Parts: sequence; C-alpha cells; structure tokens
Amino acid sequence: MWTERRRRRAQLLLLMAAAAVVVVGSALASAQEAALRVGFYRATCPIAEDVVLAEMRLILMEDDTLAPSLLRMHYHDCFVQGCDGSIMLQSRKGKTERDALPNRSMRGYDAIERIKARLETVCPLTVSCADIIAMAARDAVYLSHGPWYDVETGRRDGNVTAAEYVENDLPPPDSNIIDVKTFFSVKSLNSKDIAVLFGCHSIGTSHCGPIRKRLYNFTGNMDQDPSLDPAYATELRKLCPPPRPGDNDGVPVGGKTKVPLDPGSNYTFDLSYYRHVLATGGLFQSDGSLLHDPVTRGYVEKVANASSPDEYYADFAAAMLKMGRTDVLVGDLGEIRPTCGIFVD
Ligand code: HEM
Repeated sequence: MWTERRRRRAQLLLLMAAAAVVVVGSALASAQEAALRVGFYRATCPIAEDVVLAEMRLILMEDDTLAPSLLRMHYHDCFVQGCDGSIMLQSRKGKTERDALPNRSMRGYDAIERIKARLETVCPLTVSCADIIAMAARDAVYLSHGPWYDVETGRRDGNVTAAEYVENDLPPPDSNIIDVKTFFSVKSLNSKDIAVLFGCHSIGTSHCGPIRKRLYNFTGNMDQDPSLDPAYATELRKLCPPPRPGDNDGVPVGGKTKVPLDPGSNYTFDLSYYRHVLATGGLFQSDGSLLHDPVTRGYVEKVANASSPDEYYADFAAAMLKMGRTDVLVGDLGEIRPTCGIFVD
C-alpha cells in the first residue's frame, strides 16, 4: 500500500516535471518568436526585404534627396517612444510627432506609405511600418554608396503619439557634448555609439534655422561660435544671411536655402563627415561637440585618418543595430496595420 502510494506520487511528480518542461519550452519558443532578429519575415514574407530595396531604388531614382531624410526618419522614430513607426501617425489637430518642429523638415512619409502599400499587396498585414522605416534607412545608406548591413526585424507598430515627446527626446542642434551624452544615454547609447551614429550626417542637408544661432547670436551678444572655422563660417553666412523679423527657417517651405551637412560629398555616405568635423567644427554645434570629449574626439580623429572605411562601416552596422532595438514593441504588443499614417484624432 505504502509502496503503491509512493509509486503514484513519483508518477505525479514526473508528470508535473514534464508539464513544467513543456510550459518553459513553449514560453522560450514564444519569447524567441517575439524577439527582434535578422530575417524575422523569412517564413511569413520572404520577399519583404527585396520589395523594400526594389521600391527604394525607384523612389531614389525619382528623388535622391529622400535618402538622407529616410535615414533621419529611423533615428527620429527610434528616439521618440522607441522604433515603433509612431512617427508616421497623423492628427487633424496638429498634435502628433509628425507635427513637432524637428519633424516638419522631415520628408519621405509618402515613400514609406508607398513601400507599405506594395508590401500589403504581397503579404497583407504582415510587415510593420517600424520595420519598413528601419529597412528603408539601411537601403538609403546602401544606395548612397555606403555599407550594407543586416537589419533586425520583428518590430510592431505603436499607435500613441504626441508632439511634445519629440521635443523631450531629441537633442537640439545647439546641444553641447554633455546634453548629447545625456539624451543618448537614456536610449542606452554610449559615447562611441554617439560618435559612430553622428556619421549619418555624412549625407543630407539642413535648413538655415538650426545654424543661425551659431552664426549670429551664439551667446546672445550677436556673436559667432568661436569653435567654428572662420572660413567655413564665412561660407555659411553667405548661404544663410541673418534672419529677418518673422523669418522661421525651422519651418521649411518651398525654395528655402539648404546647406550640406558634409560639403562636397553630401549625397555619398563615406568618412568625409569626420574630416569635415575635425577641420571646421561641423555644421551644428552638436556635430562640433564631438571634439569636446576624449572618447568622441578620439573616434573622430581615428575615422578621419582611416585608410579604409571597413572598421567604421562595421561600427556603423553595430550602432544602427543597437539604435534599432530602442524600446521596440514585439510579440503581442503593438499592431500591424494596413497603412502607416492613420489618423489618431
Ligand atoms: C544630437 C544629435 C542630432 C542632432 C542635433 C541632429 C540635428 C539635425 C538637424 C537640425 C538636421 C537638419 C534638418 C533640416 O533642417 O532639414 C539634421 C539632418 C539630418 N540628420 Fe541629424 N541630428 C542628430 C543626430 C542624427 C543621427 C543619430 C542620425 C542618423 C542615425 C541623423 C541623421 C540625419 C540626416 C541623414 C540628416 C539629413 C536630412 C535631410 O537631408 O533631409 N541625425 N539633423
């Protein structure tokens, strides 16, 4: 009798252990399923990355100035509430991330929507807008003669947005290195990541608004930033004359002047941004701030003097991967919607 009870108890324990193995196993499997990874769509939409690249080729053939903007969009998406595609959301009341000042100069929303529409025809309700933005950013770099790198996918989209999040989460262009490090450390990005990611300014342009203070009123005494190379400052002053009352270059409208971020090579993703920062102090105060910290300055000097881009390109791939993991929604969180720019109010 006693032996029989022990036998039953042993059987019960064995059953419980087996059940625990099944529960833990399936939890691990679903965590793995939910995780961000390279090739997330391999089973559900194997041509997703090819479709994005093919559309990006067409989009940039029509307007190559969209490459830098789409790269910037991934950064602005990730820094504001995580890489969740919320930058695409629209509001009839002007209250979304898209409406905030730093995003009013953003272009390429239609390009993302165009890629999304193409993907919906081949794999309906499968590929998130956040992933499309991440893949488009990678393709923008690649199609600007930069490196190819693997993008992790599996993000899902958020549907919460507010204009003030943008002001809170994105460092302004007049940031010093302390500000920059503070904003980036909140996103778990360190000094090396900062120096690497700022290389995005190897392509693209800026309106005059973000540099006017640096050129004309640095300390409030109608002065110029002394750390800006005088010859470069003279060029910039020609392109961007002093503001007139009522001017607001921060809100771009057709025909406003645009200044290259990396003069002479602003549509080629390469190392010359680092040489430009070292020689002139860069376009924005935040670019120049890289020179005011031993780690970031050391990195700028190393890349500026590198004989091959390979090491920088490997660092860039790693830093983009890291930025692309910022506060992502995976698994059952968030949603996959048929269009990216739905109206939230
Ligand atoms: C402290 C950090 C940063 C600041 C203050 C900053 C600021 C700016 C500003 C003011 C512009 C010009 C916008 C305009 O007037 O059109 C710009 C352009 C750009 N930014 Fe940044 N940025 C930062 C970091 C980054 C990072 C990390 C990336 C990429 C991951 C990036 C990618 C770009 C690109 C590609 C452009 C050119 C956009 C175009 O040509 O349309 N930026 N940035």
